[in-house]
Amino acid sequence: VSAGLARTPPMGWNSWNLRGAAVSAVDIRAAADALVVTGMRGAGYRYVTVDDGWMLPTRDEHGTLIADPGRFPGGIAALARYVHARGLRLGIYESPGRTTCQGRPGSYGHEAHDAVTFAAWGVDYLKYDACSYPGLRPAGTSARAWLVAGFTRMRNALDATGRPIVYSINPSSSGDPAGERAWSWASSVANLWRVTNDHAPCWATVLPMDYYPGVCTSDSFDPASAWASEGGPGHWNDLDMLAVGLTPSAVNPDVENLASLATGRVSNQLDDTEARTELSVWSMFASALIAGNDLTTMSPATRTILTNRAVLAIDQDPLGAPASRRGGDSWDGLSVWTRPLAGGDTAVLVVNRGDTRRAADLPGSPLALRANPAGYEIADLWTGRLTRTAGTVPTLSVDLAPHEAALVRLTPVGRTAG
Ligand code: GLA
Repeated sequence: VSAGLARTPPMGWNSWNLRGAAVSAVDIRAAADALVVTGMRGAGYRYVTVDDGWMLPTRDEHGTLIADPGRFPGGIAALARYVHARGLRLGIYESPGRTTCQGRPGSYGHEAHDAVTFAAWGVDYLKYDACSYPGLRPAGTSARAWLVAGFTRMRNALDATGRPIVYSINPSSSGDPAGERAWSWASSVANLWRVTNDHAPCWATVLPMDYYPGVCTSDSFDPASAWASEGGPGHWNDLDMLAVGLTPSAVNPDVENLASLATGRVSNQLDDTEARTELSVWSMFASALIAGNDLTTMSPATRTILTNRAVLAIDQDPLGAPASRRGGDSWDGLSVWTRPLAGGDTAVLVVNRGDTRRAADLPGSPLALRANPAGYEIADLWTGRLTRTAGTVPTLSVDLAPHEAALVRLTPVGRTAG
């Protein structure tokens, strides 16, 4: 984890949800071009990542990984040049195990060689995914020590190349979806770490966040209790790829968590309201923001959601402070978090978990907002509405459709932000 990387949560696009193991250079170039023309690059989405499936099943005679020449005719280096020429950065995927989740050659025992290969190709980001690695654990080694060792080996190998490469890890596996509580050990190992199993595009997994024991089921994991208080500049929680804009016709049916969506067996596509809520939640918790939808065909609404700069600025806030749950369950059906921002502003997220419209006035002191003699300016980041409080402590009035979120920025009047 080279110093100075990922000072704010990485933003970008990843191939997995759309293409699965059939990913090709054509897909990556199309995504890179789309990031530019849609304005997403300008909004901060910089990393284009080739997920699992890019390699041939065996290494070459020197032990070097080879990109499938049918799908990556010029190899990864040519792809990196293409992506770099557009002001973007290239991500790639590997595993600390003997094989990746798709059975391609893993980096186990090849860490230094693979890191040098990636650096030589011009790779800027590595997604390193547990897959078969936990199964290699020797008797007498704790599960956590084994994860730390495996993920640290590649971290050291990347550092040794001298190339700045953002290091994104997924220590979770089916046996241990929390990756031994990755958030509690990974900040000294990686720039970002997954906190959940694979995220599916359905309301049940947008909030509360959970460990996804099954597709589109939630075990009501409460983010206030564990990973939500971790993270900061250089090291972030990763809530997994965004489901914003994933549609049944544009997901890979081979991807397990998307299969029911692809076949229409479950009506679990996020609608635009739920998509706004998802981006609000990811931003409030300073997660990496990695889109996974088809950027070349997305609707204007999806594009508007993904490029809402006021919302993205919450995610990218330079202070990188964690969010805190407020009010417990006292606002029946509403979940509320606040988060201090750089320059003295405060972000407030209110999510209507219920299936009916909810209106409420949320008083300032349970929100832990400090009194300001001249009051507060309140910016509603989805509607763009600007209001001012009359009193010294703001009362937030919300009126939310089912599954809708309000994400608000409070600025104390008389103090300039920044
Ligand atoms: C795991 C990861 C996914 C994806 C696949 C690829 O399931 O969690 O994000 O990378 O592997 O096989």
